[in-house]
Amino acid sequence: MDDFSYAHRDTSASGSAGVARFNVPHIPPELQNIRREAFAREIPVAGDETLCFLMAQAAARRPARILELGTAVGTSAAAMAYVCPQAQIVTVERDENFYREAVKNFDICGISPRVNAILGDAGEVISKLEGPFDLIFLDSAKVQYVKYLPRLKELLSSGGVLIADDVLLFGWASGEAEVPKKRRMLALHIEEYLRAVSTDEQLITSVIRVGDGIALSVKRQI
Ligand SMILES: C[S@@+](CC[C@H](N)C(=O)[O-])C[C@H]1O[C@@H](n2cnc3c(N)ncnc32)[C@H](O)[C@@H]1O
Repeated sequence: MDDFSYAHRDTSASGSAGVARFNVPHIPPELQNIRREAFAREIPVAGDETLCFLMAQAAARRPARILELGTAVGTSAAAMAYVCPQAQIVTVERDENFYREAVKNFDICGISPRVNAILGDAGEVISKLEGPFDLIFLDSAKVQYVKYLPRLKELLSSGGVLIADDVLLFGWASGEAEVPKKRRMLALHIEEYLRAVSTDEQLITSVIRVGDGIALSVKRQI
C-alpha cells in the first residue's frame, strides 16, 4: 500500500464545474482557517462539496454518536461536531503528527470535550470499540474499506448511516476511466466494497457523485 490509497484528493471543485460553487460550507472562522491551511499544505481533507454533503447528513440525522476513520487534522470531525451540538465523536488517525494537530484544532474549535481522538490503526481500534454509532464516516485507507465493513455494520445502530468517501476514484471504480496499472489493486478493493454494500440485504445503499464519489449506506431497521 502506498500513500495514495488514503491521500486521495477531493477533486470536487474541478470535477463538477458549475455545481461546486454552490457548495458553501457554513462553518465558523476558526475552522475555515484550519481548512485553508490544510489545503495550502496539500493535506487531503474533504473539499467543499463533500463537506457540505457530510454536514447536511449529520444535521438531518442528529446522531448521538459519530465514528470517523481517518481524522487527518480534524476538519471533517469538527464540521460534524459543529452541526451536531449534541453528538459525541470518536475519530481515529494513525499518523501521530496529524493526530496531534487534530487534537490542537479540536481545542481551537472548542469541541474537545465532545471529541475522543484516538491515535491508532483503524482496523485495530474498531475491533475494540463499543457501538452503537448512528453515523460512521469512512475516510481512511481506501484499500481497507471492504475489510472493515463487517465490523462497521456491527458498530452501526439500526437506522444508522455509513458514509464512505472517495469511492469512485476518478472513474476507475465505476469503469468510466481506465485504471493505471499501479492503482489496479486499489480500484479492485473499492469495487469490492461497492459490490458488498450494494448487495447486502441489511443495507440500503446509494452511490452518488459528490466529491470523488460517496457510498451512503443505511442499516435497515429489521
Ligand atoms: C483523506 S484523509 C482524512 C481527511 C479527514 N477526514 C477530513 O476530511 O478532514 C485520510 C486519513 O486517514 C489516515 N489513515 C489511513 N489509513 C489509516 C488507518 N489504517 N488507520 C487510521 N488512520 C488511517 C491517514 O493518515 C489520513 O490522515
